[in-house]
Amino acid sequence: MNIRNKIKTANIPFGPYAAVLAGATVNGKPNYAAIGAYGVVSQKPVLYISLKNTHCTTAGVQETGYFSVNIPTSDLVSKTDYCGLVTGKDTDKSGVFTSFYDEAGNAPMIEECSVNYLCKVIQTIPVFDFTMFLGEIVSAYAREDCIENGWPNGEKADPVILMGTGYFCLYRKIGTVFQSGKEYVSNRE
Ligand SMILES: Cc1cc2nc3c(=O)[nH]c(=O)nc-3n(C[C@H](O)[C@H](O)[C@H](O)COP(=O)(O)O)c2cc1C
Repeated sequence: MNIRNKIKTANIPFGPYAAVLAGATVNGKPNYAAIGAYGVVSQKPVLYISLKNTHCTTAGVQETGYFSVNIPTSDLVSKTDYCGLVTGKDTDKSGVFTSFYDEAGNAPMIEECSVNYLCKVIQTIPVFDFTMFLGEIVSAYAREDCIENGWPNGEKADPVILMGTGYFCLYRKIGTVFQSGKEYVSNRE
């Protein structure tokens, strides 16, 4: 069928999504994976993340029953991409960020991120080769300099937006998926 002003494209979601870091304790250490599959599911404080079954982070969430969602500011794009380029199975990612914890649950959160949610798994849904974890928020934090009148300020929270193969901040493109993390590696060497 022909529709005016439209061209049929591949059945692959383009976005936009927020690029966030899912955190879990794996073998007693913090581990983080970059994810785009994250969101709100109801007006109740419940978030979902969707993780490939073979990821290290997935095993950590299954084992502990907790995960964290950490919202990186745009200056953290290389470190965020790096956490999507390498797996905790063969690379220790525990030193990429500074981790902190809350007594409400065993998942690491990232000090450098503007906003952090600690979630307790309340439902697990298999989706093809992924697992969708629904998590009730049991604790939330925001970086002091991102708060205004007791609530995170959007401009200051400065999230990373994912569209296609690009990372964008709210105003411009700031990086390339599976490339920006390499800059983190070469800057470190
Ligand atoms: C921008 C970006 C978004 C990603 N989104 C997801 C996602 O939504 N779910 C997922 O399972 N993996 C996603 N990945 C891939 C994982 O981050 C990657 O495979 C990572 O190495 C897994 O790490 P782990 O094995 O230490 O858990 C994404 C990667 C990037 C760079």
